[in-house]
Amino acid sequence: MDQRPIGVFDSGLGGLTAVRQLRQIMPSEHIIYFGDNARVPYGNRSRETILKYARQDLRFLRQFDPKLVVIACGTVSSNCLEDLQRENEIPIIGVVEPTVRRAVSVTASRRVGLIATRASVSSGAYQRQFAALDPEIRVFTQACPLFVPLVEEGRFRSGDVVVETVAAEYLAPLREERIDTLVLGCTHYPLLTEIISGAMGGSVFLVDSGREAACAAQSVLLQRDALAGPGMGEARFYTSELAADFQRMAEIFLQEPCRAAAETVDIERY
Ligand code: DGL
Repeated sequence: MDQRPIGVFDSGLGGLTAVRQLRQIMPSEHIIYFGDNARVPYGNRSRETILKYARQDLRFLRQFDPKLVVIACGTVSSNCLEDLQRENEIPIIGVVEPTVRRAVSVTASRRVGLIATRASVSSGAYQRQFAALDPEIRVFTQACPLFVPLVEEGRFRSGDVVVETVAAEYLAPLREERIDTLVLGCTHYPLLTEIISGAMGGSVFLVDSGREAACAAQSVLLQRDALAGPGMGEARFYTSELAADFQRMAEIFLQEPCRAAAETVDIERY
């Protein structure tokens, strides 16, 4: 049993899709979340910049002595997981491996799509993971750079003509490839599930990276005998931007009220 918190970070709000799943499957766990809203999006930046930001995010979270850190960001996971694991002795999990494992287990046609940020797609990390688990699978990729700013602006609801138009354009090439499984390789994208399903057709299985990361976190804690004891866990939220805006949007992502107020952090100090 281990009462220390799980640390979770993302470039912004997207990682809250992983927090929501963590809270559903392990309600006793304490969670410390950091969203780097002042510097979102990471997905159009260089690997060097993403690594610099990720190191700062992790240094901030390490002050809380986490027993495990979840990188709830496809961009950081695909570009920096190995560096962060090498530099820190605590367990750190990313979203790439658990997400790809799930896709490999559900695809029947072995034609899989991947949508993610530019930096995630161009890192090749998802593609390498597919090749390692099943070299027969064909992976069709599409970077969707406008999805993150739209979601951060709260533009993710069905009927929103702007986001529906953007989605239709991004997803048209994947429709042509007759995939049966689509990896949502960015933790912001589960908010767009209805829109993406509408554009792809209901028979395409969508793999939610936040959910898969949460399940992977549970497995690691089980293996280490490090689950929290009984009782309701607390979640605390930190952001590098205005906390009031963060809190309002966070409640939409979490689909529950943020009981504790979010706090603003000067991330450049870390
Ligand atoms: N949630 C991040 C991801 O999963 C968003 C990326 C970004 O900041 O561009 O990739």
